Amino acid sequence: MSKITIAIDGYSSTGKSTIARQLAKALGYIYVDSGAMYRAVTLYALKAELIRDNKLDKEKLIESLPSIFLQLSFNPKKGYAEVYLNNKNVEADIRNLEVSKYVSRVAEIPEVRRKLVAIQQEMGKNKGVVMDGRDIGTVVFPAADLKLFLNAAPDKRATRRYKELLERGDKVSFEEVLQNVEFRDRVDSTRDVSPLKQAEDAVVIDNTDMGLEEQFERVLNLANHVISQKKKDA
Ligand code: CDP
Repeated sequence: MSKITIAIDGYSSTGKSTIARQLAKALGYIYVDSGAMYRAVTLYALKAELIRDNKLDKEKLIESLPSIFLQLSFNPKKGYAEVYLNNKNVEADIRNLEVSKYVSRVAEIPEVRRKLVAIQQEMGKNKGVVMDGRDIGTVVFPAADLKLFLNAAPDKRATRRYKELLERGDKVSFEEVLQNVEFRDRVDSTRDVSPLKQAEDAVVIDNTDMGLEEQFERVLNLANHVISQKKKDA
């Protein structure tokens, strides 16, 4: 068994999902977007009106957790898994700024994290997985074979996310996207449970001035090195 586990963590909009998808495709691994799960729970909270006047009813959301059923289902046309919330494909509904505005508040709740981390660990139990998020290398898979920690300058990250949202047809301003990126970085890094932090054994990649191809080549080389090392040790 030479399949490995790859954990990718980092600040918001650092291109974690892009590199994770590229790697999973090249290696024939499963890609899991853990952030999509936190986003789906946030969408549930919005739809159930557990968020009103900017206030999240944490108690009610915790009570509702048993009725939140999440699945990731591979879409061969798109080449990645899409998120289903209570059997409905919500992929197109979870990436907007409304969900981004509240997701870090939802992700602070220990009961929410406990539920999602258990699903994520189950998905990765047979290795051959690339998972991205905030606590993958520290909490979900502390023994991952390869850990990456991504970062880039905040204005660069906000520019990338702003373009993505405009391409989707969302009406947003650059200023509000930048504010959201900075807000989530702050909440995600300072929360009590599983805060975003670099694992000691993570390889840090700052892609402020790095092209996608260059980044992919570097990361694929790293992964292949770890895989061949593993084969030797077997
Ligand atoms: O927007 P971006 O792709 O950077 O973020 P995401 O991966 O979609 O994650 C959205 C939010 O979910 C983050 O800002 C965190 O608050 C939360 N999250 C988390 O707490 N732990 C994870 N493993 C993944 C995401």
